[in-house]
Amino acid sequence: MAYVAFDAFMKESKAFVEEQLVRYANTLQCPNVLREAMAYSLAAGGKRLRPLLLFATLQAFGKDRDLGIGTACALEMIHTYSLIHDDLPCMDDDDLRRGKPTNHKVFGEAMAVLAGDGLLTYAFQVVTEQEHTDVTPEIKLRIALELAKAAGPEGMVGGQVADMEAEGKQLTLHELEYIHKHKTGRLLEFAVLAGALLSGATTEQQEKLLTFAKYVGLAFQIRDDILDVEGTEEEIGKPVGSDMTNEKSTYTTLFTVEEAKQILEETIAKAKEAISSLQLQDEYLLAICDLIAKRNH
Ligand code: IPE
Ligand code: IPE
Ligand code: MG
Ligand code: MG
Ligand code: MG
Repeated sequence: MAYVAFDAFMKESKAFVEEQLVRYANTLQCPNVLREAMAYSLAAGGKRLRPLLLFATLQAFGKDRDLGIGTACALEMIHTYSLIHDDLPCMDDDDLRRGKPTNHKVFGEAMAVLAGDGLLTYAFQVVTEQEHTDVTPEIKLRIALELAKAAGPEGMVGGQVADMEAEGKQLTLHELEYIHKHKTGRLLEFAVLAGALLSGATTEQQEKLLTFAKYVGLAFQIRDDILDVEGTEEEIGKPVGSDMTNEKSTYTTLFTVEEAKQILEETIAKAKEAISSLQLQDEYLLAICDLIAKRNH
């Protein structure tokens, strides 16, 4: 793929994945209200960071975005479902997401649960039906397996449970790291691993990229915790102070905001270090690290 500046790469990646997500939603043969509820959250915006990470990993191996579009859309569907459920009154009880009323505020709680269920299940249909000739049945199977592990009880869902159970409790750093690495880290790791698998990466490359992704995931959630304290609702598109209202332990309750920022910097440095010995075209991966450290939304 021809090298373009990171800003352009980011914009093109976002536009590409959004166009395909709309296409996937529109082709669904299902009750209109379900399609509308799924499409509402899929099209609500968001940074599309997970697809960006996947595409940047492909680029590191000189591969084109087309190779990863099905997997990227599936990943964004699972991420979107996790947000719909995370915002429900029985979980974080938030009314704003991506600058718009949350799914349950528009469609009601039952439909929000079902829209989430639909997105989770559809993601695996999308992974297995993708048609790119270089995505062999073996790669599809491995991707479906890794996605299930990253999203399920040993991954994101496990992290969400630990997060809920920790409400009102003082956690150790170790316990907080478990939550962050699972509720957020595992899907970000999957983005990088999928890019590596689709590119035919060696075991050594996969391992180093996974270490990179673990630090990226942790850093991303540390920044999310900081933004919950010092972001603005306009910038982050979700309510500020939600963690405090829900008595969550976060990096800003275990540490001061300044300390959390220091840990964030250190975590980003470790991420960059993890891939420094690989001879890859890693400019976009490194640029994503800087984006995460400084992001305001
Ligand atoms: C929000 O994720 C939930 C977390 C894991 C912190 P994002 O900050 O990536 O949300 P969108 O997709 O940009 O809305
Ligand atoms: C949610 O973490 C992570 C998942 C949805 C898996 P948060 O509850 O911190 O996310 P926000 O702050 O609501 O986006
Ligand atoms: Mg939550
Ligand atoms: Mg939340
Ligand atoms: Mg948060």
